[in-house]
Amino acid sequence: MIPLTLAQIAEITGGQLRGDPAAVVSGEVVIDSRRVGPGGLFAAVAGERADGHDFASAAVAAGAVAVLATRPVPVPSVLVGDVPAALAALAKFAIDALPAVAIAGITGSSGKTTTKDVAAQLVERLGPTIAPAGSFNNEFGHPLTVLRADAATRYLVLELSARGPGHIAYLCRVAPPRYGVVLNVGHAHAGEFGGLDQVARAKGELVEALPADGAAILNADDPRVLAMAARTAARVVTFGVDDRNAVIRAAGVRLDDLGRPSFTLLTPEGQAGVTLRLHGAHNVPDAVAAAALARELGLGLADIADGLCAAVARSRWRMEVRRREDGVTVINDAYNANPESVRAALQALRHLAQDGRGFAILGHMAELGEVSRASHEDIGEFAARAELAGLIAVGEEAAPILAGARRVRSWTGEALVVPDGTAALDALANQLKPGDVVLVKASRAAHLEGVAAELLISHGGATR
Ligand SMILES: Nc1ncnc2c1ncn2[C@@H]1O[C@H](COP(=O)(O)OP(=O)(O)OP(=O)(O)O)[C@@H](O)[C@H]1O
Ligand SMILES: [Mg+2]
Repeated sequence: MIPLTLAQIAEITGGQLRGDPAAVVSGEVVIDSRRVGPGGLFAAVAGERADGHDFASAAVAAGAVAVLATRPVPVPSVLVGDVPAALAALAKFAIDALPAVAIAGITGSSGKTTTKDVAAQLVERLGPTIAPAGSFNNEFGHPLTVLRADAATRYLVLELSARGPGHIAYLCRVAPPRYGVVLNVGHAHAGEFGGLDQVARAKGELVEALPADGAAILNADDPRVLAMAARTAARVVTFGVDDRNAVIRAAGVRLDDLGRPSFTLLTPEGQAGVTLRLHGAHNVPDAVAAAALARELGLGLADIADGLCAAVARSRWRMEVRRREDGVTVINDAYNANPESVRAALQALRHLAQDGRGFAILGHMAELGEVSRASHEDIGEFAARAELAGLIAVGEEAAPILAGARRVRSWTGEALVVPDGTAALDALANQLKPGDVVLVKASRAAHLEGVAAELLISHGGATR
């Protein structure tokens, strides 16, 4: 981060200083006290399980210069009324002081983190790049990421999330992007928005925030995203897989036995062959979006293609494919779940299980609102049509998946509801044979990643 004195921090945040005004914060700003480093600033927030204020002294002992807090703490501090607002003010001040940094924002219902991770690996070839770890995409993670930029930084690749109208506009005011990528408009959090049109309104706030000399990078295969072209002053650059009119696109997509896509990347500058290390065809639009962004920032085609082939999944539990020593393959996609990403994962499962049987352990999809039951049933029907050998719904909320599967009368697979992950493991125990593939997927709250880990433990779980 750019060095700031406590006096400056108090002034920027409108906070009350309790400590040495000349003390300088030059390390990271963090909200996790375990991540405090020397010279940093610890922002104390009250979470569901713990209150950061209780860790104020530990943070200073670990090297923090001061604590950003909403109530008095026994160590140097800046007292503010609202921590996210204070972080936003600091981030805005810091990034305004770094005009050489090109800011890119990525939003969409599914694939933000994947696209951000791939894009960062491309953009890093151009110069020092800051991108968040994991899904640091909200009113906390976003300013904390922006604050990591310093005088050496040239690019910021940010993930922007919305759970309601105005959220993305707010993040864009904190760090105004010149480049904006919109991936798709899907059902993630659609219940909170009130429908897909509302999701589109909110995601489009990103392109509304772009300046005329910026670029809006839009998915030509998603009509709700393409329609955002009318909402931006920026130049529009389209990407896609199916749409032949897209400026940057993938053609001839095919998958290897572990579901890794190969395709030809077509650009106005020429074409290049790409093979991704990511699993599942749904990563292709994400990769092409990342390519389109890197191209806007000035990366040449050869570097883009090379970078796409080299890019790895930096964030955990998204389509992690491991083959056990006994020949059973486990797909850990337990990071989150919404109808689009479950369909994508089931398609990948079907592909991987071509020579064996496919099993899916599915938890419920959260925050879908009134379409929740119907969405779960549709997923069940989709899974049955994918001819899975077994479908295990974890928890009562996921039970409608089975009702949907039973709509497919020709389906002969086994279906059951179990109360928790342990019971799902018990149900599969002694059933699996070489060549079988097991997908584990659910919303974050279900914490099914442990089930995937358990499936690998004692079986080697070698990566291929
Ligand atoms: N283009 C896509 N279409 C459908 N599913 C996708 C797509 N890209 C990624 N996914 C799947 O969506 C899930 C989440 O991926 P990722 O973490 O990249 O998305 P995200 O938008 O960052 O999610 P979050 O809103 O939780 O931050 C994973 O299961 C991933 O495999
Ligand atoms: Mg994410």
